[in-house]
Amino acid sequence: MTAAAVKTAKTGASLEAIQDHYDLSNDFYRLWLDEQMVYSGALYHHDSETLEQAQLNKLDQHIRAARAHDARRLLEIGCGWGACLRRAVTMARVEHAVGLTLSQAQADYIRRRGEPQIEAFVENWQDHRPSAPYDAIISIGAFEHFARLEYSDAEKVAAYKSFFARCQERLLRPGGYMSLQTFAYGSTRTRQSAIGDSATQFLAREIFRETDPPTLANIAEAIQSHFEIVALRNDRLDYARTLREWMSRLKRRRSQAVSLVGEEATQRYERYLQYSFIGFQTGNLDLYRITLRRLELPWRRA
Ligand SMILES: C[S@@+](CC[C@H](N)C(=O)[O-])C[C@H]1O[C@@H](n2cnc3c(N)ncnc32)[C@H](O)[C@@H]1O
Repeated sequence: MTAAAVKTAKTGASLEAIQDHYDLSNDFYRLWLDEQMVYSGALYHHDSETLEQAQLNKLDQHIRAARAHDARRLLEIGCGWGACLRRAVTMARVEHAVGLTLSQAQADYIRRRGEPQIEAFVENWQDHRPSAPYDAIISIGAFEHFARLEYSDAEKVAAYKSFFARCQERLLRPGGYMSLQTFAYGSTRTRQSAIGDSATQFLAREIFRETDPPTLANIAEAIQSHFEIVALRNDRLDYARTLREWMSRLKRRRSQAVSLVGEEATQRYERYLQYSFIGFQTGNLDLYRITLRRLELPWRRA
């Protein structure tokens, strides 16, 4: 793939598609997510752990993997309601944590808290132009949005490649680490068969508009000459357990959910959580946590 093809790659979900999903209602998400409003698969170390603890385990794991402890500047691409930024500043002595999101509701939520070491921007990673590269990057649950269902495999890889190229060339310091979490098509079925099934169609139409997850092969191809893989784990059953907990919290607070967003939207989310649970439980979907180290550009190596 040429550098020009990467620079002009298609770019995944639009601001409108992301806002339709994440701007539905902060109060609605608060009903069924954990206290910190982390909206991605958790990391369970023990059977007895609560969702709250498992989400903190996950954030700590990414902060460690990105070597962000004591960092001066951390970037989180797709920061949600800011839980990881807060964890990095309060528990890992990060001096300054910057979060990017396409959701206005999420950015407003973070800004209203008025935490001086934390900044949130409603900005696509493609448009982010920092004054200096960051010491570490974390991205949890955003990568899924960087390609659309109608893209060919080559177009998907080009989109992902433009992301890795930008992180390498503009966003991360030399020798820096990025910790990436994304769900992906699992090894038990092909993308082609998944696209044909009704669950995938429903999720693409009703929840994850303009979005299609990667395969591991897509990611491996796209990082070539930008990053090397330091560690890779598949925690799909942890995501299944997270979804089971979200479903049971939503069930317990169903009447409040209906008063906030209506019966139709509540049913839509119940169906989405159920389909996703089955996907992770059966291995149709995987959950990758990948530690990446920046490769040095050949022309800078000399
Ligand atoms: C599933 S949420 C995960 C949020 C958070 N990382 C967490 O684990 O709670 C996905 C996040 O990615 C953001 N996002 C999606 N596409 C993006 C893009 N192109 N640039 C910046 N943020 C993006 C969304 O706005 C949202 O904040």
